Amino acid sequence: MSDHRFLRALRRQPVDRTPVWIMRQAGRYLPEYRATRARAGSFVALCKTPELACEVTLQPLARFPLDAAILFSDILTIPDAMGLGLSVEEKVGPRFARTVRTRAEIAKLGVPDPEADLRYVMDAVRLIRRELHDKVPLIGFAGSPWTLACYMIEGEGSSSFAKAKALALDDAATMHRLLGVVARSVAAYLAAQAAAGAQALMVFDTWGGLLAPDMFRDFSLRYLAQIAQSLQGDKAAKNIPLILFSKGANAHLEALADTGCAALGLDWTISLGAARTRVGDRVALQGNLDPAVLHASSDAIRSEAKRVLADFGPHPGHVFNLGHGITPDVDPERLGLLVDAVHALSARSI
Ligand code: CP3
Repeated sequence: MSDHRFLRALRRQPVDRTPVWIMRQAGRYLPEYRATRARAGSFVALCKTPELACEVTLQPLARFPLDAAILFSDILTIPDAMGLGLSVEEKVGPRFARTVRTRAEIAKLGVPDPEADLRYVMDAVRLIRRELHDKVPLIGFAGSPWTLACYMIEGEGSSSFAKAKALALDDAATMHRLLGVVARSVAAYLAAQAAAGAQALMVFDTWGGLLAPDMFRDFSLRYLAQIAQSLQGDKAAKNIPLILFSKGANAHLEALADTGCAALGLDWTISLGAARTRVGDRVALQGNLDPAVLHASSDAIRSEAKRVLADFGPHPGHVFNLGHGITPDVDPERLGLLVDAVHALSARSI
Protein backbone atom coordinates (compact mmCIF):
# COMPACT_ATOMS: atom_id res chain seq x y z
CA MET A 1 0.00 0.00 0.00
CA SER A 2 2.80 2.42 0.83
CA ASP A 3 3.77 1.83 -2.79
CA HIS A 4 0.59 3.31 -4.19
CA ARG A 5 1.34 6.05 -6.71
CA PHE A 6 -0.44 8.70 -4.61
CA LEU A 7 1.76 8.05 -1.55
CA ARG A 8 4.87 7.67 -3.74
CA ALA A 9 4.19 11.06 -5.36
CA LEU A 10 3.76 12.69 -1.92
CA ARG A 11 7.18 11.26 -1.01
CA ARG A 12 8.52 12.63 -4.32
CA GLN A 13 9.34 9.16 -5.63
CA PRO A 14 8.96 8.21 -9.33
CA VAL A 15 5.50 6.96 -10.40
CA ASP A 16 4.12 5.11 -13.47
CA ARG A 17 1.60 7.91 -14.05
CA THR A 18 0.59 11.05 -12.20
CA PRO A 19 -1.90 10.26 -9.42
CA VAL A 20 -5.15 12.24 -9.47
CA TRP A 21 -7.94 12.91 -7.00
CA ILE A 22 -10.39 15.79 -6.89
CA MET A 23 -11.34 18.11 -4.03
CA ARG A 24 -15.05 17.55 -3.23
CA GLN A 25 -14.99 14.39 -5.37
CA ALA A 26 -17.88 13.10 -3.23
CA GLY A 27 -20.50 15.80 -3.55
CA ARG A 28 -23.52 17.35 -5.14
CA TYR A 29 -22.45 16.96 -8.79
CA LEU A 30 -23.14 13.21 -8.31
CA PRO A 31 -26.84 12.18 -8.38
CA GLU A 32 -26.05 9.18 -6.15
CA TYR A 33 -24.61 11.59 -3.54
CA ARG A 34 -27.80 13.65 -3.56
CA ALA A 35 -29.82 10.45 -3.14
CA THR A 36 -27.80 9.32 -0.10
CA ARG A 37 -27.98 12.80 1.44
CA ALA A 38 -31.77 12.72 1.03
CA ARG A 39 -31.84 9.34 2.80
CA ALA A 40 -29.70 10.77 5.64
CA GLY A 41 -32.12 13.70 5.99
CA SER A 42 -29.43 16.41 6.04
CA PHE A 43 -25.78 17.04 5.26
CA VAL A 44 -24.87 17.00 8.97
CA ALA A 45 -26.75 13.72 9.54
CA LEU A 46 -24.85 12.28 6.56
CA CYS A 47 -21.52 13.26 8.15
CA LYS A 48 -22.59 11.82 11.51
CA THR A 49 -23.65 8.40 10.17
CA PRO A 50 -20.47 6.40 9.47
CA GLU A 51 -22.17 3.87 7.14
CA LEU A 52 -23.55 6.68 4.94
CA ALA A 53 -20.35 8.74 5.10
CA CYS A 54 -18.53 5.59 3.96
CA GLU A 55 -21.04 5.04 1.16
CA VAL A 56 -20.60 8.54 -0.31
CA THR A 57 -16.81 8.42 0.12
CA LEU A 58 -16.76 5.37 -2.17
CA GLN A 59 -19.22 6.71 -4.79
CA PRO A 60 -16.73 8.66 -6.95
CA LEU A 61 -14.31 5.71 -6.84
CA ALA A 62 -16.96 3.43 -8.31
CA ARG A 63 -17.27 5.79 -11.29
CA PHE A 64 -13.71 6.98 -11.93
CA PRO A 65 -10.21 5.44 -11.58
CA LEU A 66 -9.20 8.00 -8.91
CA ASP A 67 -5.93 7.43 -7.04
CA ALA A 68 -7.11 8.40 -3.54
CA ALA A 69 -10.26 8.49 -1.43
CA ILE A 70 -11.00 11.42 0.88
CA LEU A 71 -12.97 10.95 4.07
CA PHE A 72 -16.48 12.34 3.64
CA SER A 73 -16.94 14.88 6.42
CA ASP A 74 -16.53 18.62 6.87
CA ILE A 75 -13.97 20.96 8.38
CA LEU A 76 -16.66 22.36 10.70
CA THR A 77 -17.00 19.14 12.76
CA ILE A 78 -14.49 20.50 15.32
CA PRO A 79 -16.41 23.69 16.20
CA ASP A 80 -19.58 21.59 16.23
CA ALA A 81 -17.95 19.26 18.78
CA MET A 82 -16.96 22.36 20.79
CA GLY A 83 -20.69 23.07 21.16
CA LEU A 84 -21.38 25.64 18.41
CA GLY A 85 -24.22 23.68 16.76
CA LEU A 86 -23.55 23.18 13.02
CA SER A 87 -26.23 23.09 10.35
CA VAL A 88 -25.76 23.15 6.57
CA GLU A 89 -28.67 24.06 4.35
CA GLU A 90 -28.92 24.03 0.57
CA LYS A 91 -28.26 27.54 -0.84
CA VAL A 92 -27.49 28.91 2.69
CA GLY A 93 -24.29 26.96 3.38
CA PRO A 94 -22.86 26.20 6.81
CA ARG A 95 -24.16 28.05 9.87
CA PHE A 96 -23.54 27.86 13.63
CA ALA A 97 -26.30 28.28 16.23
CA ARG A 98 -23.76 30.00 18.52
CA THR A 99 -20.74 32.20 17.71
CA VAL A 100 -17.64 32.92 19.81
CA ARG A 101 -16.54 36.56 19.82
CA THR A 102 -15.64 37.55 23.37
CA ARG A 103 -12.78 36.64 25.65
CA ALA A 104 -15.26 34.91 28.02
CA GLU A 105 -16.81 32.82 25.22
CA ILE A 106 -13.37 31.78 23.96
CA ALA A 107 -12.13 30.91 27.48
CA LYS A 108 -14.93 28.33 27.75
CA LEU A 109 -13.81 26.34 24.69
CA GLY A 110 -12.11 23.01 25.30
CA VAL A 111 -10.22 20.60 23.03
CA PRO A 112 -12.67 17.89 21.88
CA ASP A 113 -11.63 14.28 22.55
CA PRO A 114 -11.60 12.79 19.02
CA GLU A 115 -12.54 9.26 20.10
CA ALA A 116 -15.40 10.53 22.30
CA ASP A 117 -16.74 13.80 20.88
CA LEU A 118 -15.88 13.05 17.24
CA ARG A 119 -16.26 9.30 17.44
CA TYR A 120 -18.47 9.26 14.31
CA VAL A 121 -15.53 10.59 12.24
CA MET A 122 -13.10 7.99 13.60
CA ASP A 123 -15.67 5.24 13.03
CA ALA A 124 -16.11 6.46 9.45
CA VAL A 125 -12.32 6.37 8.89
CA ARG A 126 -12.13 2.78 10.20
CA LEU A 127 -15.12 1.67 8.13
CA ILE A 128 -13.87 3.32 4.92
CA ARG A 129 -10.43 1.70 5.33
CA ARG A 130 -12.10 -1.67 5.71
CA GLU A 131 -14.32 -1.15 2.65
CA LEU A 132 -11.47 0.21 0.49
CA HIS A 133 -9.58 -3.10 0.75
CA ASP A 134 -6.32 -1.17 0.16
CA LYS A 135 -7.41 -0.30 -3.38
CA VAL A 136 -6.37 3.33 -2.92
CA PRO A 137 -5.10 5.32 0.09
CA LEU A 138 -7.51 7.27 2.32
CA ILE A 139 -6.96 10.98 3.02
CA GLY A 140 -8.08 12.41 6.37
CA PHE A 141 -8.47 16.18 6.78
CA ALA A 142 -9.24 19.17 8.98
CA GLY A 143 -9.65 22.93 8.59
CA SER A 144 -6.84 25.31 9.51
CA PRO A 145 -7.18 27.20 12.80
CA TRP A 146 -7.59 30.53 10.97
CA THR A 147 -10.28 29.16 8.63
CA LEU A 148 -12.18 27.51 11.49
CA ALA A 149 -11.91 30.69 13.59
CA CYS A 150 -13.41 32.66 10.66
CA TYR A 151 -16.58 30.52 10.77
CA MET A 152 -16.70 30.38 14.58
CA ILE A 153 -16.58 34.17 14.87
CA GLU A 154 -18.80 34.99 11.90
CA GLY A 155 -21.24 32.12 12.49
CA GLU A 156 -21.56 31.51 8.74
CA GLY A 157 -19.76 31.98 5.44
CA SER A 158 -18.64 35.46 4.36
CA SER A 159 -16.73 36.98 1.47
CA SER A 160 -14.48 39.05 3.75
CA PHE A 161 -14.67 37.53 7.29
CA ALA A 162 -14.36 41.11 8.52
CA LYS A 163 -15.46 40.24 12.09
CA ALA A 164 -12.63 37.69 12.42
CA LYS A 165 -10.10 40.20 11.09
CA ALA A 166 -11.42 42.91 13.40
CA LEU A 167 -10.98 40.65 16.44
CA ALA A 168 -7.42 39.82 15.34
CA LEU A 169 -6.64 43.55 15.01
CA ASP A 170 -8.47 44.82 18.10
CA ASP A 171 -7.58 42.07 20.57
CA ALA A 172 -4.76 39.91 19.23
CA ALA A 173 -4.32 38.12 22.57
CA THR A 174 -7.91 36.88 22.54
CA MET A 175 -7.60 35.82 18.89
CA HIS A 176 -4.43 33.88 19.74
CA ARG A 177 -6.29 32.16 22.62
CA LEU A 178 -8.92 31.03 20.12
CA LEU A 179 -6.39 29.95 17.48
CA GLY A 180 -4.37 28.11 20.12
CA VAL A 181 -7.26 25.96 21.35
CA VAL A 182 -8.39 25.29 17.78
CA ALA A 183 -4.83 24.35 16.71
CA ARG A 184 -4.55 21.85 19.59
CA SER A 185 -7.95 20.45 18.60
CA VAL A 186 -6.95 20.12 14.93
CA ALA A 187 -3.66 18.39 15.81
CA ALA A 188 -5.41 15.89 18.11
CA TYR A 189 -8.15 15.29 15.52
CA LEU A 190 -5.66 14.63 12.70
CA ALA A 191 -3.52 12.37 14.91
CA ALA A 192 -6.65 10.38 15.81
CA GLN A 193 -7.56 10.06 12.11
CA ALA A 194 -4.06 8.71 11.44
CA ALA A 195 -4.45 6.23 14.32
CA ALA A 196 -7.83 5.18 12.89
CA GLY A 197 -6.27 4.48 9.48
CA ALA A 198 -5.93 7.69 7.42
CA GLN A 199 -2.87 7.33 5.14
CA ALA A 200 -2.40 11.01 4.26
CA LEU A 201 -3.65 14.16 6.01
CA MET A 202 -4.68 17.48 4.52
CA VAL A 203 -5.30 20.85 6.16
CA PHE A 204 -7.64 23.24 4.32
CA ASP A 205 -6.69 26.88 4.95
CA THR A 206 -9.38 28.12 2.60
CA TRP A 207 -9.42 31.69 3.93
CA GLY A 208 -5.67 32.15 4.57
CA GLY A 209 -5.41 34.15 1.33
CA LEU A 210 -7.75 36.83 2.73
CA LEU A 211 -4.99 37.98 5.09
CA ALA A 212 -2.38 40.69 4.50
CA PRO A 213 1.18 39.26 4.69
CA ASP A 214 1.97 40.06 8.34
CA MET A 215 -1.43 38.86 9.48
CA PHE A 216 -1.04 35.66 7.45
CA ARG A 217 2.21 34.89 9.26
CA ASP A 218 0.80 35.72 12.73
CA PHE A 219 -2.69 34.26 12.51
CA SER A 220 -2.49 31.45 9.97
CA LEU A 221 1.03 30.21 9.11
CA ARG A 222 2.19 30.06 12.73
CA TYR A 223 -0.63 27.66 13.64
CA LEU A 224 -0.15 25.53 10.50
CA ALA A 225 3.48 25.10 11.57
CA GLN A 226 2.39 24.16 15.12
CA ILE A 227 0.12 21.46 13.72
CA ALA A 228 2.84 20.08 11.41
CA GLN A 229 5.27 19.94 14.34
CA SER A 230 2.76 18.35 16.67
CA LEU A 231 2.02 15.62 14.09
CA GLN A 232 5.73 14.94 13.64
CA GLY A 233 5.90 14.14 17.35
CA ASP A 234 2.88 11.82 17.25
CA LYS A 235 3.35 8.05 17.10
CA ALA A 236 0.58 7.36 14.57
CA ALA A 237 0.97 10.51 12.45
CA LYS A 238 4.74 11.03 12.21
CA ASN A 239 5.11 8.98 9.02
CA ILE A 240 1.85 10.13 7.45
CA PRO A 241 2.34 12.77 4.72
CA LEU A 242 0.72 16.14 5.48
CA ILE A 243 -0.64 18.33 2.66
CA LEU A 244 -1.19 22.04 3.39
CA PHE A 245 -3.60 23.96 1.16
CA SER A 246 -3.57 27.69 1.85
CA LYS A 247 -5.82 29.02 -0.87
CA GLY A 248 -4.76 32.35 -2.32
CA ALA A 249 -1.57 32.39 -0.26
CA ASN A 250 0.90 32.01 -3.11
CA ALA A 251 3.00 34.85 -1.67
CA HIS A 252 3.96 32.49 1.19
CA LEU A 253 4.91 29.23 -0.53
CA GLU A 254 8.48 29.17 0.80
CA ALA A 255 7.31 29.67 4.38
CA LEU A 256 4.59 27.05 3.98
CA ALA A 257 7.16 24.56 2.63
CA ASP A 258 9.32 25.26 5.71
CA THR A 259 6.60 24.04 8.12
CA GLY A 260 7.71 20.43 7.66
CA CYS A 261 4.69 19.39 5.57
CA ALA A 262 5.12 16.83 2.77
CA ALA A 263 3.18 18.70 0.10
CA LEU A 264 1.51 22.01 -0.75
CA GLY A 265 -1.88 22.24 -2.42
CA LEU A 266 -2.05 25.07 -4.95
CA ASP A 267 -4.88 27.04 -6.50
CA TRP A 268 -4.81 27.87 -10.22
CA THR A 269 -3.46 31.41 -9.96
CA ILE A 270 0.17 30.25 -10.05
CA SER A 271 1.85 27.88 -12.50
CA LEU A 272 3.19 24.67 -10.96
CA GLY A 273 6.53 25.38 -12.64
CA ALA A 274 6.83 28.78 -10.98
CA ALA A 275 5.85 27.28 -7.61
CA ARG A 276 8.37 24.47 -8.03
CA THR A 277 11.15 26.92 -8.83
CA ARG A 278 10.43 28.63 -5.50
CA VAL A 279 10.08 25.61 -3.21
CA GLY A 280 12.53 23.32 -5.03
CA ASP A 281 12.17 19.66 -4.15
CA ARG A 282 11.51 20.26 -0.46
CA VAL A 283 7.83 19.37 -0.90
CA ALA A 284 5.52 17.70 -3.42
CA LEU A 285 2.89 19.88 -5.14
CA GLN A 286 -0.80 19.12 -5.52
CA GLY A 287 -3.08 20.85 -8.02
CA ASN A 288 -3.98 22.99 -9.79
CA LEU A 289 -6.46 22.99 -12.67
CA ASP A 290 -9.05 25.78 -12.57
CA PRO A 291 -12.35 24.03 -11.65
CA ALA A 292 -14.11 26.13 -14.32
CA VAL A 293 -12.25 24.16 -17.02
CA LEU A 294 -14.73 21.31 -16.37
CA HIS A 295 -17.39 23.49 -18.03
CA ALA A 296 -15.39 23.79 -21.26
CA SER A 297 -15.19 21.39 -24.22
CA SER A 298 -13.54 17.96 -24.09
CA ASP A 299 -10.66 19.33 -26.15
CA ALA A 300 -10.14 22.21 -23.71
CA ILE A 301 -10.23 19.84 -20.72
CA ARG A 302 -7.56 17.63 -22.33
CA SER A 303 -5.34 20.51 -23.39
CA GLU A 304 -5.58 22.24 -19.99
CA ALA A 305 -4.75 18.95 -18.21
CA LYS A 306 -1.74 18.61 -20.50
CA ARG A 307 -0.67 22.16 -19.71
CA VAL A 308 -0.83 21.57 -15.94
CA LEU A 309 1.25 18.37 -16.31
CA ALA A 310 3.77 20.19 -18.51
CA ASP A 311 3.94 23.14 -16.07
CA PHE A 312 5.10 20.75 -13.36
CA GLY A 313 7.47 18.97 -15.75
CA PRO A 314 9.00 15.49 -15.74
CA HIS A 315 9.98 15.46 -12.06
CA PRO A 316 8.71 13.28 -9.23
CA GLY A 317 6.36 14.89 -6.71
CA HIS A 318 3.14 15.92 -8.46
CA VAL A 319 -0.40 14.96 -7.42
CA PHE A 320 -2.95 16.19 -9.95
CA ASN A 321 -6.05 17.92 -8.57
CA LEU A 322 -8.22 20.94 -9.20
CA GLY A 323 -7.18 24.25 -7.65
CA HIS A 324 -10.36 24.18 -5.50
CA GLY A 325 -13.42 21.96 -5.12
CA ILE A 326 -15.45 20.66 -8.06
CA THR A 327 -18.66 22.69 -8.36
CA PRO A 328 -22.15 21.11 -8.07
CA ASP A 329 -23.12 21.97 -11.66
CA VAL A 330 -20.43 19.86 -13.38
CA ASP A 331 -21.49 16.93 -15.58
CA PRO A 332 -19.84 13.86 -13.98
CA GLU A 333 -18.78 12.62 -17.44
CA ARG A 334 -16.47 15.64 -17.74
CA LEU A 335 -14.64 14.53 -14.62
CA GLY A 336 -14.24 11.01 -16.05
CA LEU A 337 -12.72 12.55 -19.13
CA LEU A 338 -10.27 14.59 -17.03
CA VAL A 339 -9.13 11.63 -14.90
CA ASP A 340 -8.53 9.50 -18.02
CA ALA A 341 -6.68 12.35 -19.71
CA VAL A 342 -4.34 12.83 -16.72
CA HIS A 343 -3.51 9.13 -16.62
CA ALA A 344 -3.03 8.83 -20.39
CA LEU A 345 -0.96 12.01 -20.76
CA SER A 346 1.33 11.24 -17.83
CA ALA A 347 2.04 7.52 -18.43
CA ARG A 348 5.78 6.84 -18.24
CA SER A 349 8.11 3.96 -17.48
CA ILE A 350 9.89 3.90 -14.13
O1 CP3 B 1 -13.63 16.58 -0.79
C1 CP3 B 1 -14.46 15.72 -0.43
O2 CP3 B 1 -15.10 15.00 -1.22
C2 CP3 B 1 -14.60 15.46 1.06
C3 CP3 B 1 -15.63 16.18 1.73
C4 CP3 B 1 -15.48 17.64 2.10
C5 CP3 B 1 -16.63 18.46 2.29
N1 CP3 B 1 -16.24 19.66 2.81
C6 CP3 B 1 -18.00 18.03 2.02
C7 CP3 B 1 -19.06 19.06 1.90
C8 CP3 B 1 -14.38 18.42 2.43
C9 CP3 B 1 -12.90 18.07 2.34
C10 CP3 B 1 -14.86 19.68 2.89
C11 CP3 B 1 -13.99 20.76 3.39
C12 CP3 B 1 -14.55 22.11 3.62
N2 CP3 B 1 -15.76 22.44 4.18
C13 CP3 B 1 -13.85 23.31 3.38
C14 CP3 B 1 -12.44 23.41 2.86
C15 CP3 B 1 -12.36 23.12 1.41
C16 CP3 B 1 -12.89 24.23 0.54
O3 CP3 B 1 -13.83 23.95 -0.22
O4 CP3 B 1 -12.36 25.32 0.60
C17 CP3 B 1 -14.69 24.38 3.76
C18 CP3 B 1 -14.35 25.86 3.64
C19 CP3 B 1 -15.88 23.82 4.28
C20 CP3 B 1 -17.05 24.54 4.86
C21 CP3 B 1 -18.25 24.23 4.08
N3 CP3 B 1 -18.99 23.07 4.20
C22 CP3 B 1 -18.83 25.00 3.06
C23 CP3 B 1 -18.30 26.35 2.60
C24 CP3 B 1 -19.94 24.29 2.60
C25 CP3 B 1 -20.93 24.74 1.58
C26 CP3 B 1 -20.39 24.44 0.25
C27 CP3 B 1 -21.27 24.94 -0.85
O5 CP3 B 1 -20.73 24.93 -1.97
O6 CP3 B 1 -22.44 25.27 -0.61
C28 CP3 B 1 -20.00 23.07 3.29
C29 CP3 B 1 -20.96 21.96 3.08
C30 CP3 B 1 -20.39 20.79 2.34
N4 CP3 B 1 -19.26 20.12 2.73
C31 CP3 B 1 -20.94 20.13 1.18
C32 CP3 B 1 -20.11 19.05 0.92
C33 CP3 B 1 -20.29 18.00 -0.15
C34 CP3 B 1 -22.20 20.53 0.43
C35 CP3 B 1 -23.39 20.50 1.32
C36 CP3 B 1 -24.46 19.51 0.94
O7 CP3 B 1 -24.22 18.47 0.30
O8 CP3 B 1 -25.61 19.79 1.34
